[in-house]
Amino acid sequence: MIAPSGAGCGRSGFDFSGIIRNRTNYGSRKGSLQEKKDMNIIVVKDYNEMSYQAAQLIAEQITNKRKSVLGLATGSTPECMYKELINLNQEDKVDFSEVITFNLDEYYGLPPEHPQSYYFFMWNNFFKHVNIKKENIHLLNGISENIDKECAQYEALIKKSGGIDLQVLGIGNNGHIGFNEPDINLNTKTHLVNLTAKTIRANSRFFNTAQKVPKQAITMGIGTIMRARKIILLAYGKRKARVIEKTINSPITTKVPATVLQLHNDVTIIVDQEAAF
Ligand code: F6R
Repeated sequence: MIAPSGAGCGRSGFDFSGIIRNRTNYGSRKGSLQEKKDMNIIVVKDYNEMSYQAAQLIAEQITNKRKSVLGLATGSTPECMYKELINLNQEDKVDFSEVITFNLDEYYGLPPEHPQSYYFFMWNNFFKHVNIKKENIHLLNGISENIDKECAQYEALIKKSGGIDLQVLGIGNNGHIGFNEPDINLNTKTHLVNLTAKTIRANSRFFNTAQKVPKQAITMGIGTIMRARKIILLAYGKRKARVIEKTINSPITTKVPATVLQLHNDVTIIVDQEAAF
């Protein structure tokens, strides 16, 4: 996976720029939403601090509830967040022994051992380094022969686990969360999705060529994500600034799926200064 240029995963002295904004963008537009809690927007100096802050919020969640159910993301955005969590675990500052996880998505057609599968990513970047129980880890099977059943079982398992306490999200340049791509309609439940040309192009950086990028993926639906009790959305770098601005300020639209987060009651967006608009 690709880390941002010039940034390692080292802790950088916790030098947060400390800009914390609470934003409500719809209060004046829609009376019925005026009671809704604001989105928390935390602007930090750089990628390392974004990662550190996110790891701290997750650690805090687990400290408050040992059996927390976490929704997890892959991609370059959370890579160093996982390294921070591994450090915290190794320093006995966070205990994953009771934690349950559900990953957001998986490429359709990639077996778990494929180096670009999200199964591979999660085991290598996180699970194998911490004291989480194997049976508490849930990942979608990209080579399931019965996708409908796979998706329905995933939804049922999330429900049986008590629902997601804290969902971590990255964001695509086109506003996708999970692999919920811009469309006329958004699917609420876990489902098979066609990836857009823009996503295929963006993710070709992991596959050498766009031809090798799977054309479909299985993803939690927008409803699955929105049912999480808390959501943390992470973004870094200039290329995410426009979509972060839209996520916070645009009218809610299926053309930018992340805008639905405006309707959630407990969203924290952590961005570095380049992704802040
Ligand atoms: C990954 C996922 C995607 C990514 C998004 C951003 O599990 O659900 O929504 O978060 O494509 O990817 P990066 O972080 O690579 O820019």
